[in-house]
Amino acid sequence: HGTQTIGENGHLHIGGVDTVELAKEYGTPLIVYDLELIRNRARAFRDTFQKHGVNAQVAYASKAFSCIAIYQFMKEENLSLDVVSGGELYTALKADFPAERIHFHGNNKSYDELLLAFDAKIGCIVVDNFYEIELLKEISESRKQSMNILLRVTPGVEAHTHDFITTGQEDSKFGFDLNNGQADEAFQLVVNHEYLNLLGLHCHIGSQIFETDGFSLAASKLIEKIGEWNKKYGYECKVLNLGGGFGIRYTEEDHPLEPHVYVEEMVKTVKEETSKRQLPMPEIWIEPGRSLVGDAGTTLYTIGSRKVVPNIREYIAVDGGMSDNIRPALYDAKYEAVIANKANLPRNCTYTVAGKLCESGDKLIVDAPLQKAEPGDILAVFCTGAYGYSMASNYNRVPRPAVVFVENGKHQLAIRRESYDDLILNDMEYQLNK
Ligand code: LLP
Repeated sequence: HGTQTIGENGHLHIGGVDTVELAKEYGTPLIVYDLELIRNRARAFRDTFQKHGVNAQVAYASKAFSCIAIYQFMKEENLSLDVVSGGELYTALKADFPAERIHFHGNNKSYDELLLAFDAKIGCIVVDNFYEIELLKEISESRKQSMNILLRVTPGVEAHTHDFITTGQEDSKFGFDLNNGQADEAFQLVVNHEYLNLLGLHCHIGSQIFETDGFSLAASKLIEKIGEWNKKYGYECKVLNLGGGFGIRYTEEDHPLEPHVYVEEMVKTVKEETSKRQLPMPEIWIEPGRSLVGDAGTTLYTIGSRKVVPNIREYIAVDGGMSDNIRPALYDAKYEAVIANKANLPRNCTYTVAGKLCESGDKLIVDAPLQKAEPGDILAVFCTGAYGYSMASNYNRVPRPAVVFVENGKHQLAIRRESYDDLILNDMEYQLNK
């Protein structure tokens, strides 16, 4: 992927940097981000909209990987930002991310989280439910402060990797149903509000999607509704946010489309459907997470112990596991790997890569083809950049790994490794026996 090469010394290099040297300098587990790959993706999304003359915002869905440095990087790339909690919003503000390009999501935003958003004067709140409308009215009226909003709707299109299903009513905890009057009711509640400025609609149909049909169908359904509101009430929609979900290649079984293909299909559908109904062309916003940072991330581990289960398989264990990557245990997610210090050698052995956590389900890769492994070797697991660190935990009191950025032969620490002292930072002494 990306800028990965095998150096003359047989080591895996990323961004012109020897990963074995990175492991030495920063320790393992270590997550290495290939910034050039992220830049290229970000530009591909942005430039495609530009090429087709469509006003757009590409908002990085930062739940995929959130920290100050990545926010500053996304700011440099002129992206917008999707945050889903007070914590992500706080981090973004600390990173000096332009507030007017921050969009706030979530199905149960608290009063305090919404206050933080108003204080920061963020660009848009994506409203999820009726309770949130009440809170927003209360806050905006009492502060006499305006706020841009989108209504999140569930169009009854649920996309999966290769196909999508359409249902009259989707069983989702998110958003206003488009098909049973909920969206209409929400529209009525906000459309003429003094302080809430309804920019348009939002939907997100799924994640790790390899086809464009689901996006087109969802866009059509949203535009149909907008057409209805336009006819009845003269409403003009300024923004159509079609969410994220663009797939990446984790293993050879995955065949995602290029970013420009997803965007071109969206642009085509939105242009067609709006002109058919004589509606003004809205801005299109999207929210890629995984496709920006997923395959840009590689986790380096040190290989330690080994166990042979005769006639069945051979385990090698690494110094991390489900604490830094829960996806195999949680979703049965698949990954590929190489031994970074032997990347030039054939992968003619088969190992199951186990983590170090006290759970038998803590396996990162089952039956991985790998170079012959010895203790001290550095294992590089690819495509761990999305929903890895961001879903990491301290289970077993394992400290979270460090994160480094690499580009053009340079490297920098983006998140320092957690220390044992960090682990006990919030722990209190036992007192009730006094
Ligand atoms: N927008 C909304 C409203 C979302 O809910 C999500 C992801 C995204 C954008 C970004 O989707 P992406 O482009 O990253 O697919 N933890 C799971 C993924 C959960 C995705 C949740 N929502 C995983 O590790 O696969």
